[in-house]
Amino acid sequence: MSIGQFPHVRLRRNRHDRFTRRLVSENTLSTDNLIWPVFVTEGTNSVTDVASMPGVQRVSLDRLAAHVEPAANLDIPAIALFPITPTDLRDESGTEATNPDNLMCRAARLLKKEFPEIGLIGDVALDPYTSHGHDGLIEDDYVVNDPSVDILVTQAVNQAAAGIDIIAPSDMMDGRVRAIREALDATGLPNTRIMSYAAKYASAFYGPFRDALGSGGLLKGDKKTYQMDPANSDEALREVALDLQEGADMVMVKPGMPYLDVIQRVRQTFSVPTFAYQVSGEYAMLMAAIQNGWLDRERAIMESLMSFRRAGANGVLTYFAPEAARLLRA
Ligand code: PBG
Repeated sequence: MSIGQFPHVRLRRNRHDRFTRRLVSENTLSTDNLIWPVFVTEGTNSVTDVASMPGVQRVSLDRLAAHVEPAANLDIPAIALFPITPTDLRDESGTEATNPDNLMCRAARLLKKEFPEIGLIGDVALDPYTSHGHDGLIEDDYVVNDPSVDILVTQAVNQAAAGIDIIAPSDMMDGRVRAIREALDATGLPNTRIMSYAAKYASAFYGPFRDALGSGGLLKGDKKTYQMDPANSDEALREVALDLQEGADMVMVKPGMPYLDVIQRVRQTFSVPTFAYQVSGEYAMLMAAIQNGWLDRERAIMESLMSFRRAGANGVLTYFAPEAARLLRA
């Protein structure tokens, strides 16, 4: 054997046994990293499937505790609540958003009482409440910024007063984080956290979510005048910088898998708590392939979640949260 015949460095050596693979593993995924989005609906004794999200359901409040209990038992740190507003309560200006006794606030009060340990995240935007499906108020066919922020502030304060621990503005209006922060402090809620949907893109991947909410059919036009252009990532850094200056405690990038590069840039640039939303369309995509037998269910789910950790995310909002927590425990 002549010198130089063998490679000195063989990266496969560390992959040879499970024990070295464990030792050299660079990232971890744990239940601590999971946030579960939950859809709530009016009525009683109601559990309905979301057609485009197999395995995901909308539940009425009397069924909510039973729905959330497994997640609480699995020690999932937080859930994110999304209300389905009955059509007759939706109007041009999203009035129901500011009702202190709306579905979201009632759900928050109920869950705070039943499961005081689990963190509650409240989405703040007008789209579940407007007859046009937009996240803000419309004047002359344009979603107007500052008047929308005024309503979002009331919505946020009501949610926090009802027991929401983390306000998550998903509306992409300018200046809303600062306005919400000031209002929370002025209302004696200085410990209510803000997780801003800082870099939220105008994405096709929200389709199944809009089906779940019943806002998809209502939506007039698109959200491109306020949500970000998928072509941009420098702009995502500006959005994040601004939200942090305005008082955001945590930031989010959304969608997730198509935007792993953005997650990585945000995390590396700011070193702040950074979250990713594996949105409804990503869930639908994976589930469609899984149900066809084209992907291995457990491996595809866990690999997709690990990719967020590798990109630098602290945690992931994912419809797979309970299943992932179960797999992590096994
Ligand atoms: C509301 C909101 C949306 C999602 C979360 N909050 C939809 C949208 O902006 O149209 C999407 C979540 C998902 O697709 O899973 N502003």
